This record gives sequence, structure tokens and C-alpha cells, in this order.
Amino acid sequence: MLPPGQRPILAPMSLPPGFLDELKSRASLAQVVGRKVTWDQRKSNPSKGDLWAPCPFHQEKTASFHVDDRKGFYYCFGCHAKGDLVSFVTETENVGFMEAVEILARETGMQMPARDPQAQQKADRRTQLSEVMEQATAYFRLQLKTTVGAAARDYLEGRGLDPATLDRWEIGFAPPGWQGLWDHLTGKGVAEEMILAAGLAKSSSQGKKPYDTFRDRIIFPIRDARGRAIAFGGRAMDPNDNAKYLNSPETELFDKGRSLYNMARAREAAGAKPLLVAEGYMDVIALAEAGFTATVAPLGTAITEDQLQLLWRMHDEPIIALDGDTAGLRAAMRVIDLALPLLEAGKALRFCLMPEGQDPDDLIKVQGAGAMQKLIDQSIPLVQLLWRRETEGKNFDSPERKAALDRSLREAILKVRDTSLRRHYGDEVNRLRRALFDGPRSRTRPAWQPRGSRFAPPSQPMVETRASTLAATNAAFEEVLKEAVILATLVTHPELIDRFEADLERLETTQPAHEAVRRALIGTDRRTRAEIEAVCGADALEKLFHPRHVRISPGLRDGATRDVAEMSVAEELAKLTARRGARAEIEHAARDIEGLADEGLTWRLRQVSEGLTEAGRTGRDDRTEYDLGPNGARLRRDEKQDFESLIERIDYSRGRDKPRR
Ligand code: UTP
Ligand code: MN
Repeated sequence: MLPPGQRPILAPMSLPPGFLDELKSRASLAQVVGRKVTWDQRKSNPSKGDLWAPCPFHQEKTASFHVDDRKGFYYCFGCHAKGDLVSFVTETENVGFMEAVEILARETGMQMPARDPQAQQKADRRTQLSEVMEQATAYFRLQLKTTVGAAARDYLEGRGLDPATLDRWEIGFAPPGWQGLWDHLTGKGVAEEMILAAGLAKSSSQGKKPYDTFRDRIIFPIRDARGRAIAFGGRAMDPNDNAKYLNSPETELFDKGRSLYNMARAREAAGAKPLLVAEGYMDVIALAEAGFTATVAPLGTAITEDQLQLLWRMHDEPIIALDGDTAGLRAAMRVIDLALPLLEAGKALRFCLMPEGQDPDDLIKVQGAGAMQKLIDQSIPLVQLLWRRETEGKNFDSPERKAALDRSLREAILKVRDTSLRRHYGDEVNRLRRALFDGPRSRTRPAWQPRGSRFAPPSQPMVETRASTLAATNAAFEEVLKEAVILATLVTHPELIDRFEADLERLETTQPAHEAVRRALIGTDRRTRAEIEAVCGADALEKLFHPRHVRISPGLRDGATRDVAEMSVAEELAKLTARRGARAEIEHAARDIEGLADEGLTWRLRQVSEGLTEAGRTGRDDRTEYDLGPNGARLRRDEKQDFESLIERIDYSRGRDKPRR
């Protein structure tokens, strides 16, 4: 019989019947576990095979981890980890089922049966591929030490990495040629197919020799949890390269979404230190070198569910330290949505908000490890970042807006599957909500919040909360970019300002820098970039022109004519207006009603509906297919009718929540 929780798929066909039972009777679970934990002497009763220890799968000081040595099962009353001898080895050594069986067989002196030939082949191939990766690692490291690597060495030195650090991180250099690594490996007798399969070279489309994947790049070897080389990250030396970082393609060895940079070392360190998640290679290195050794990073992709689960196996409460830029904040927002359904007791997340425009590497370099530690100490729990995402920079001066906030918060909280945790989330959000809507009277300080914290809920009833990148993050990022393209094109082609003056007057900006530029553009006497800059400041312009998307937009390319620029501005303006106007209120409402309707919601719907009817009645008499909504949105007439019939179908009795005041 398989113990509960163990998937039968894992039972391999090639083990003869009775093999596992024999293994389990020979090896003692208590002995195997005992290598990883310190038994609680007072609570344990070894003569009965009844043993207790602090759990090796989550961080705790008390002993909630129970081993029943006679039955051969373990169970943690804290994190509910459970299993048997083999699963304990797979979990703690991070090996597959068969490897765990092998380890245990070796220890107990049992002869492994002949392996499934296919599985054997696969393991052999992985070993061989990994061996090729090791050879490549050695090659890249050597290149960094020779003359071709001089510029790369200088660059790395300039970034504060001394030779010992370079060695510790096995940093290397891929020279600029097309076949350096290819020739080196084939010269050593490595099969061409293996080099391609390891993702180190790509076949030429013109039937020529395959070419190296990494050229003129600083190389960061990526190892898996067991320390095997599985991939490389390469940073371009040429600042004009299209991709600043290039990572190995997915191969038999490398599954991006299931790997983390520096996983093996971080896992070891994570017992004693907070587990940090940074965005990039250089951040991990800077953090680890500054003493934050339990640090990992995803590999050029957004954090995945698999990676979150990996993180939670290392630590109960990883801290996500994302860059203090729009992209970093967007990544944090995605992590919130990803994490909400997965949260349970003992699986939490915190967020460490970096100062705007800085990543951990920058911060440590400029302000030192102490400043980083401070930020880590101030990291905020997920619920609070969620709150800020929904509220910052928004205005709650009308019942509709309050209702909209309630809706989005409810939607988020409903994603938490763990019922007890969901209730706590609800309580917490209600507290914050009351503080926002009612003002100081009912303000309470949540338990997790230190007295006088700078994230304290607002003490005044706030009509409009602070506009910030965070708010912009929450507004569609595309809108921010469109704004930037419009403004940047006008800065570059000031001759167009008159043409778009009225649009500029109306343009709503989400970023302080954008607003500064917009204001500088409005007015009649500023006709050169320098004049504009004198008004809005160089900082604002720099921010405006920073996103790549902005720099490559048609009106900003080299030699773009006035016509191209004009069309580009007109088009982006049209798209932005359309996006902002036609927010799909109806869709949202429909979704709400499917979920949980309450009186506040139905009230809001009726308001919108009445507004629509009104707009229909008093509108011009033409038979266009659009009507104007109360918020200025153009609504298709057929949608409006759907909407009205939807309103009629609402079952008011379903309202559960009393509207709060
Ligand atoms: P960043 O652009 O924040 O770079 O990308 P960084 O880590 O601060 O690097 P430096 O300091 O300029 O050297 C963060 C991470 O996103 C991935 C890489 O994994 C990088 O470390 N990335 C970035 C890519 O995969 N491709 C890119 O073109 C850029
Ligand atoms: Mn950086």
C-alpha cells in the first residue's frame, strides 16, 4: 500500500514486488529523519518509535513534526507535510523517486534491481548533457581570464566584483566569435548533437556550421538544486545589443519556470536567514555577497506557480524584492494574483519595495547592506500590497467608486482558497477600508503593523490617495506607455504642439513625470527641447524616454518626418481615449452578479442603467449604434440593451452583505 499523499504514478514498473517493503523494513525512518532534525527529547518516546522534532519542511521553533518509526510515516501538524521514508528523501535531497530508492538501497546494502532501460538511458543522457554544460562552464571561465576577456573583466571590476567573487559565482565570458565554444567542444570530441541539445549552439538556417548561442556576453552559470549545471545566463557586453540578457533555451536539462538562480546555496542558507527573491543575476550576487545568502531569482521570466511552490519548500514566508520601477511593480502585482489561490497557513509572502528606479544591486552599492536590511525589515505582507494596489492614486469620493473598490477587493479575496485565511484577509481588508472611508474615528492598527510604520493607513479620510507608480501599475501599463509615446513624440517634434494643444489640455496622465512634461508642453512659448526641459526638468524627460517601447515608436525613430510623428501621436491619442472611455463597466458588473451580488452593487447598476436610459432619451436623434454612458464612455446600443435586461434579471434577494457606511 502506498501511504496517503504519495502518487502511485511514481511507483516505477521496474522495481520487483516487495522491493520497497523490504527497503522500508531495513531502513529506519527515524534514523534517516534524524540526520536532518534534532529530536525533542522531552516530547519523544524512542522506545515506542514515537519521535518529535521541529519540522524540517517549515520554519518553527516548536516540535510539530511527528515520526511514527514503526509504521514508517511522518506527519507535520504545522505544515501538514507527510509521507514515508522514500518521500522524505525525495523532499529533503530534492531527488526523484528512483534516486531516493537508490540512495536508501545503497545505505541499507540492498542490491538495486536492473533499471528500466528507458529511465536509465534518460538519466544517462541528462548526466551527459550536464557534463557538456560543465565543460562549457570551464571554457567560459577560462575565456574571462585570457586577453579576449579583458574588457569583460574591466566591466565586472567596475561593477564591484573582485576575482574571488567571480570565482565563487563561476562567472565566465563568451567571446564575440561565432564558433568559439563549438570548436572547443567538438575539438574535445563532444558530439555535435549534444552541444545543440544542451542549447549551447543553434543550427544555421543556411546550412552552415551551427553557431554559438552566447557571443560577446558575460556568462552566469545556472545550477539546479543539486548543483548540476543546467543553463547559462548571458549579459551583453555591447550596450546596443537587442537583448541585455539572454538565457539558455529550454532544454532537457533546463525548465525555466521550475528553476531558480542560486537555488542550491539559497536552500541551504534559508533555514537561518530570510529567503529573498530578487529579479536578476547581479541582484542575487550583490545580495549574497552582502550577507543575504538565501537569495534566488527567476530566470528571465515572471515568477511561476512552480517557482512559488519551490520557494515555499525553502521557507514559509519568502520576501519578494522587486525592482523599484514600473516593471518591477507589475511583476509584484502578477505575483499577488498568482499567489492568492495558493496561500495557506505557513505559505505566505512579503514584499520588499525598492526605492523607485533602484534594484537591490544599486541600493547595496550606493547605500550599503544596512540600507537593504532596513528595507527587508520594512517589507509588507501581501495583503497590504494588495490594498495599496487597489487604492493608491484613486479617488473614492462617490458611492460608485467605493462600490468599485469593494468589488475588486472582494474579487481578490475570493481567490484565497484556504477558508480560514480568506476570513482573515477579509477582516484585514475591512479594517483598512474603514480607515479609508470613515477616517480617524474607527482607525485601528493591524496586528502586523509596527507602531508608527510609514505604511500606516491614512489618518485622514482620503478623497484622493497618492498617485504613484503603483497606481500606474494598476492602470493598464499600455496606457502609461501610450501616454509616454504621445508626450515624447511632441517633445521631439515641438512643431506639432499647436496641432495637438486641445488634446494635451485634456490628456490625463498617470505619472508625475508625464504630468510635468505635459504641463511644460502646454503654453505657447516653448518650442525647443531645451526650453521644454528647462520647465519640466531633465529627470522627467529621462523617465519619459526611458521605456524601450517609447524609444522605438515611429515618431521617435531616426529621421522620422513630421507626418509620421503626427500620425503616431494621433493614433496613440485615439487608442488611449478609446481605452479610457470604453472601460467595460458592463462586463464587470456581469461578473459581479455571477459572484456575489449585494445591495451596493445592485444600487450601482441601477444608477448606471438610469444614466444610460437618460443618455438615450436626451441624446441626439441620430440612429448611431452608440450611446453615451454617464461616465462619458461610448456604449454600443446593443450592449446597453443587454445590460438593461441583465438589470431586470438580478435577483435582489441574493444580496448578502449589508451595504456598509
Ligand atoms: P534587469 O534589466 O533589471 O537587469 O533584468 P539587472 O539584473 O539589473 O542587470 P544589470 O544590473 O543591468 O546587469 C532583470 C533580469 O531579467 C532578465 C535577466 O534574468 C535579468 O537578470 N532579463 C532582463 C532578460 O532575461 N532579458 C533581458 O533582456 C533583460
Ligand atoms: Mn541592475
